[in-house]
Amino acid sequence: MKKAWKWLEALLVAMMMLALVPQTVNAAESTQAPKVTDNYLKKVKEKGELVMGTSPDFPPYEFVQNVNGKSKVMGMDVEVGRKIARDMGVKLVIKTMDFDSLLVALETGKIDMVISGMTATPKRAQSVDFSQTYYKSGQNLIIRKSDKGKFHDYRSFGGKAIGAQTGSMQATLLKEQAKKSKIKTMDKTNDLILGLKTNKFDAVLVDTASAAAFAKNTDGITSIPSGLKIPSQGNAVAFHKGAKSLVKSANKSIDEIKEKKLVTKVYLPNVGKYIAKGKTKKEVKASNSMWAYKDFFIAGVGYTLFISVISVFFGFLLGAILALMRLSHNKIAHSIATAYIEFIRGTPLMVQLLFIYFGLGLVINIPALLSGIIAVSLNSAAYVAEVIRSGISSISVGQTEASRSLGLSKTATMRYVIMPQAMKNIWPALGNEFVSLIKESSIVSVIGVKDLIYQSRIVQADTYRGVMPLVITMILYFIITFGLSSLMKVFERKMNHD
Ligand code: ARG
Repeated sequence: MKKAWKWLEALLVAMMMLALVPQTVNAAESTQAPKVTDNYLKKVKEKGELVMGTSPDFPPYEFVQNVNGKSKVMGMDVEVGRKIARDMGVKLVIKTMDFDSLLVALETGKIDMVISGMTATPKRAQSVDFSQTYYKSGQNLIIRKSDKGKFHDYRSFGGKAIGAQTGSMQATLLKEQAKKSKIKTMDKTNDLILGLKTNKFDAVLVDTASAAAFAKNTDGITSIPSGLKIPSQGNAVAFHKGAKSLVKSANKSIDEIKEKKLVTKVYLPNVGKYIAKGKTKKEVKASNSMWAYKDFFIAGVGYTLFISVISVFFGFLLGAILALMRLSHNKIAHSIATAYIEFIRGTPLMVQLLFIYFGLGLVINIPALLSGIIAVSLNSAAYVAEVIRSGISSISVGQTEASRSLGLSKTATMRYVIMPQAMKNIWPALGNEFVSLIKESSIVSVIGVKDLIYQSRIVQADTYRGVMPLVITMILYFIITFGLSSLMKVFERKMNHD
């Protein structure tokens, strides 16, 4: 009999996994099915907005700027996007994410187009439709100033390491051509620059315009030609495969951009003043001081606290229910709870989050913040459930028997006799769980939720300073978690008094 239930549990886990997969696959097919007449443009016009996805770590294409304490995405790509949206008669909405998430977001309908200094490579063109090229740039290697004269182009690096952004064309180019070098990839360009400065690698490959912007703003680095054979395609706007109506409209706007030379004559000069920050060294220093970014950190703490408080609440609630289910004599309830707990504990939170945001996104569109809260709560529930279960099991059966024989109902026994004692036992373990929840909630930044980590990344990018924002972020997390554990201790002492 016991064996049979074990099997049932395993089956349930498998079913939970399968139940989710076919639906998403079907949904993907059905969105692509009616290809004959494409109504992408019509839909955009109905919404009244065109959603552009971008990874703002790539000046002058796109970067984040501190404008009176508010973060603003700027860059020539934003200007291009604005022009395309304006010509369609709609508003431009910008969604920021890591470069390697952009195409996934496009495919799953989170965004309508990608403008992110993206090169229209033939490989990408297999899964998206590109507009015509709006800008063409070469490829440069950024190196440390102290190495000037030592390296001339990619061939000088031999067995040394070169960095490139994850999912970028640069990473592919290097893999194909710089065969002797080690290629290291990171999600954000500013991390690459930091890696270069701290000797993790000896060069970083980026588009020429970006190399110039970084070299101008970061002490101790400079740029050299890459010497690589680069694809003939330039930067273009990516749309969902089959969104011909959007491509057509964008191409018309780009025709005008090219004809009037808007990129070089208007867009680049417009954003250029933000890249060459301030005029004197002192001005640059002031605009890059951490104090100038306090509002970013405050906003980040706000989001982190918000997500944590809600997730602790729902995680605890669901966890308590799961614990009772797992302890119950009802075999079905027991199996469902066990399967849930095992499945959630057995898969990474990161994957669960991406699955809720992108995977389920094919069926229903859940906004990033909500996706984050759901993922963190569901995840925490599994751990809380086990903590609570251990607490309940730690109370001897004698307690239940005594209280039942005194005439208390099952529920009353649980509520007034078992739970209060169990809570006391599990309090430190719960505290542990909540502290990890706060820290782990930082994962939501990968889908663009503006929590503390997300903000610190923005400050890093915007100030071209790598370490200070991290130190501040660390201190802020510590204050939050230490505050929580102190609060837990107060209650612990109270409980011990009762
Ligand atoms: N042009 C390169 C590519 O298509 C890099 C673009 C990186 N863009 C960015 N916003 N980080 O892969």
